[in-house]
Amino acid sequence: MCGIVGATSERRVAGILLEGLKRLEYRGYDSAGVAVIDANNELKSVRRTGKVQELKDAIAQNPLDGTIGIAHTRWATHGGVTEANAHPHRSEDEIAVVHNGIIENHERLREELKAEGYVFNSQTDTEVIAHLIHHERKTKGDLLDAVKSAVRQLEGAYGTVVMDTKHPERLVVARSGSPLVIGVGIGENFVASDQLALLPVTRQFIYLEEGDVADINRTDIAIYDTEGNSVEREVVESDVSYDAGGKGQYRHFMLKEIYEQPIAVRNTLEGRLSETTVLDNAFGENAAEILKDIEHVQIVACGTSYHAGMVARYWLESMANVSCNIEIASEFRYRKSYVHPNSLLVTISQSGETADTLAALRLSKELGYKGSLTICNVGSSSMVRESDLAFLTRAGAEIGVASTKAFTTQLTGLLMLTLGIGKYRGMPEQQQEAVVHALQALPTKLEEAVALADEIEELAQDFANKDHSLFLGRGNQYPIAMEGALKLKEISYIHAEAYAAGELKHGPLALIDEEMPVIVVAPNNDLLEKLKSNVEEVRARGGLMYVFADKNAHFKSDDTMNVLNVCHCDEVIAPIVYTVPLQLLSYYVALIKGTDVDQPRNLAKSVTVE
Ligand code: F6R
Repeated sequence: MCGIVGATSERRVAGILLEGLKRLEYRGYDSAGVAVIDANNELKSVRRTGKVQELKDAIAQNPLDGTIGIAHTRWATHGGVTEANAHPHRSEDEIAVVHNGIIENHERLREELKAEGYVFNSQTDTEVIAHLIHHERKTKGDLLDAVKSAVRQLEGAYGTVVMDTKHPERLVVARSGSPLVIGVGIGENFVASDQLALLPVTRQFIYLEEGDVADINRTDIAIYDTEGNSVEREVVESDVSYDAGGKGQYRHFMLKEIYEQPIAVRNTLEGRLSETTVLDNAFGENAAEILKDIEHVQIVACGTSYHAGMVARYWLESMANVSCNIEIASEFRYRKSYVHPNSLLVTISQSGETADTLAALRLSKELGYKGSLTICNVGSSSMVRESDLAFLTRAGAEIGVASTKAFTTQLTGLLMLTLGIGKYRGMPEQQQEAVVHALQALPTKLEEAVALADEIEELAQDFANKDHSLFLGRGNQYPIAMEGALKLKEISYIHAEAYAAGELKHGPLALIDEEMPVIVVAPNNDLLEKLKSNVEEVRARGGLMYVFADKNAHFKSDDTMNVLNVCHCDEVIAPIVYTVPLQLLSYYVALIKGTDVDQPRNLAKSVTVE
């Protein structure tokens, strides 16, 4: 989703801003722009639809010379993908603004500002902010006061950075609902929507809280809370362990991230298991205080993270003896739900900023939950900061829009949560130990799964001319089938549906013909015989099958069935291991289709708006 970068320095900032935008490309966007205040105290900006590279080329032709500037990648919400709608937006050639989020009362404000004589050049809600701040600055005189007064009038979500030719050394920023981080430099300061954008220039960060407004110049940072009080916010040294800006030897970030899964999961497990169970503090200090009383778990998440939650329900109910519901966040937040006594609200999120999941977490605080836990990949995110307990998945920065290592590390965390709750609910010690051993073996099993890449690349050729596909699984592999289908559709644009295999004969069987590949996830578990019957139902109707099976499951390739043998693994970790071949399948199909693997059309990495 949209990205923001800002800088105030003694050196020229256009290069820093463009590099920052490049690093935010992974979030998904459709246009980009930069504005600076130049030596003549004039606002200069360049905007382009398409990739940051096009913006870079345009600026190479007409350099932007300024020591203060703001930049943005836009993911269209209000108004189409046009240069006029790209940020920064300006008011009267004095104020320039970039904004992430959605202003819900923009129509009313637009009418009021038009009545004041402001002329609008775009269809965006952001242009309203620019004119509103200009209008307020005319009466208040000072930029900070103008921004404070303007944001009080905004309804909705914003992370915004403002520049003013009347105050050419200052960036004023405000955050409510969309994350912003200040990068602290030496004799220069920065701001961005994501620390990744600023890693080349600083590793010292201040994470703004909800409602904060900050006034930043080269040497000073002043922060004010919602009440307007001056506040100190901690400066945190970034713990991002490697430079996620590069693809290394890999053709795409997605492939790199698929290959990183064994090491990512090793990091997830590191220091959190004893020989017999999980350590309570894996979920935060004093986690036992909450976990020991839990009688029900409510999981809330979106997309891939939702699929991780679906798997967790099978684990929690079958091993931890605790009832569990799972719901899509955008549904949960808008319905009246029943809260069981002693319930734990679990949010799952790669980014920790997904608007619907965050809203569900905030809502839960009014509903009487015993506590909240987030399973999250970003330690500085809103969800981690606002949850009672947090389990950091430690996957490392995930750049590919299609989630891969974030998912397998979430699953690893959720299996550990099964132990974390199960040990207080009579889960037999022997069973806990067995899960620990299975978890310890997981990184090696993932290495074996990744090694299937060449075989899967070959298999993917069959999908080049297909428009539809069906994924089948049973039990805790049903959500894995759903995840496989989601991956295939989002990066190859092939229509993919997933069904619990037992549902086939209740409708979807009508779709089966030789044009519909059917992908079956078949580990060797107690549902295998049932799954084999489902496979025969498809075969009898002329369907072409791709079976990802345990080698002990005794499937044999023939004219109608391609069998890919996946390494044998403990049943409890099979959902995690079987995810990998499905990720690889969608990756290689997308390669053949020639789609934009890392930034699929219409999608954003971090969905910070509803
Ligand atoms: C799919 C994908 C999305 C995200 C979803 C939630 O590959 O990445 O479905 O899983 O947008 O995002 P997070 O996990 O950041 O809350």
